[in-house]
Amino acid sequence: MAFNAQNFVTEKTREIKSQVGNDTALCATSGGVDSMVCAFLAHRALGRNLIAVFIDDGLMREGEPKKVTSLLRSRGIRTVLVRASNGFFRALKGKEDPEDMRKAFRDTFYETLGKAVRKYGAKYLIQGTIAADVIETKGKIKSQHNVLAQIGINPRRYGLNVIEPLATLFKPDVRKVGKALRLPSTIHQRMPFPGPGLATRVVGEVTPAKVRLLRKATSIVEREMRNIKAFQTFAVLLDDRATGVRKGKRSFGNIIVVRSVQSKNAMTASPTRVPYAVLERIQKKITSQIPAVTKVLYDISPKPPSTIEYI
Ligand code: XMP
Repeated sequence: MAFNAQNFVTEKTREIKSQVGNDTALCATSGGVDSMVCAFLAHRALGRNLIAVFIDDGLMREGEPKKVTSLLRSRGIRTVLVRASNGFFRALKGKEDPEDMRKAFRDTFYETLGKAVRKYGAKYLIQGTIAADVIETKGKIKSQHNVLAQIGINPRRYGLNVIEPLATLFKPDVRKVGKALRLPSTIHQRMPFPGPGLATRVVGEVTPAKVRLLRKATSIVEREMRNIKAFQTFAVLLDDRATGVRKGKRSFGNIIVVRSVQSKNAMTASPTRVPYAVLERIQKKITSQIPAVTKVLYDISPKPPSTIEYI
């Protein structure tokens, strides 16, 4: 049977209302499609009894904390911004293994939310985990940051009661729910952005300096690719370096990968056939605006055998 987004909204609104009652719930909102749809759905159910929490973990793209919190507030959603970047960088320090990094992120993320739940006297955490997150985590492909109970981690460990209204849906249906909730199309049609943010795009140890460099490259790639239709488009900072030469002087610089994929539900993906002229322009902008970068590569790998992100 075809998915009916309007019925889904009615049903989930009723469910959330009856579960939370007159208590307060928090909603973890990163600005990605899933967590924004989840926040708007929970707000429809709970009104002032919902508080959206945006954790500034230091791993977001340029300008996101302000953009996301302003949008939520403009729609009448109570919103708090929690500054926690030091804690996230401390947790990621010295970690190079992708799964160690993911687990460190997950721990810090839920500890931060646990603190917020206590601070605001909330009883529940509502989060936008979707079906693909659960499948990939249970399949041990990668531990997505927002999957706990499904892999035997009791959320009470962090002092949390978790509600996941979107857990049975894949991305195309999440977008339909966003549309049914009258979110701006810039949000429900937005590119997915992973909860652990730019940390999934730094290969090797994540440091503030590497994230600053990657954030700049990400802005350039997103801007230059804005007219190219894709499921996701982004930049990656590799752990390797390569010899370069500038004005006759040798340097041993960073390598940025440009990645863009077509996909329906993130379970499989194929590389976007980006016009060569666009790639050339990206290369020029990155190496001129970020002198530490000596090489820019374009990734032509589908999923499988690759995944979309790098860690
Ligand atoms: P992969 O890299 O597994 O990504 O092919 C599939 C989709 O999931 C996103 N992704 C995440 N989203 N938390 C999230 O919220 C995570 O830990 C996470 N890891 C990957 C990725 O951006 C892609 O859309």
